[in-house]
Amino acid sequence: MKSTKDFLEMKNQRKKIVMVTAYDYPSAKLAEQADVDMILVGDSLGNVVLGYDSTVYVAMEDMIHHAKAVKRGACDTFIVVDMPFMSYHLSIRDTLINGARLIQETGAHAVKVEGADKVLEHIEALVKAGIPVISHLGLTPQSVGVLGGFKVQGKDAESARQIVEDAKRCQDAGAFAVLLECVPKQLAEEISSLLTVPTIGIGAGVHTDGQVLVYHDILTYGIERVSKFVKPYADINKQITNGLRTYVHEIRSELFPDDQHSFTMKEEELKFLYG
Ligand code: KIV
Ligand code: NA
Repeated sequence: MKSTKDFLEMKNQRKKIVMVTAYDYPSAKLAEQADVDMILVGDSLGNVVLGYDSTVYVAMEDMIHHAKAVKRGACDTFIVVDMPFMSYHLSIRDTLINGARLIQETGAHAVKVEGADKVLEHIEALVKAGIPVISHLGLTPQSVGVLGGFKVQGKDAESARQIVEDAKRCQDAGAFAVLLECVPKQLAEEISSLLTVPTIGIGAGVHTDGQVLVYHDILTYGIERVSKFVKPYADINKQITNGLRTYVHEIRSELFPDDQHSFTMKEEELKFLYG
């Protein structure tokens, strides 16, 4: 299993860090078998698994429940858990209690938090307490209400400069990686060269030190529409739909279960049964 130190080394050796989300035992197991470097138990859980239209409805208990299942499926992979909406804002004490729960109760290795500003002191406290932190900047879905929608961030010089400053501050606060979501590739390249810690991109171009995407997005699993930055590598929807429709049809037409899928008993036992 890789460590935070390995990820830093990968950046220095220009080896790409591969991250994917997972939310349960089978997705984690398959991600580990595919040899990803890091698994993110993202609060995108709310959207792709629980059916909410926002990540703000995801609770600590949801994250813990799913992170435990991920850990059982991928016991040999570095696991990062998203701290959910408002779980790292109220007080340093609350942040530490929540951060500790996400690590202690699940066996995950690190947490991820969105934003800089007021969050910086929380990042510092978590790291000082021994909890590795990834910072998430650019498009931060937990504050989409304030951002005013799911839009590319840092397109103009002023907002780009702000993201560069935030990234540096997160690094200074102790984050071992900075995740950049939905920013122009030139900005992501600039931040990646300025920071000593690795950057992980989603919709941030090819120059970040690593990449992350949502499991359900890259496999087209239970979702209909994907963002511009998602490349679908498989279409599981199609396979599941075909499988389920055939199952329904075969039961209704009594093609299933056939003898191959049924148990029998010997004639003499039948006689015994009926006397
Ligand atoms: O929740 C999530 O899946 C994430 C990634 C999109 C980075 O935060
Ligand atoms: Na997230």
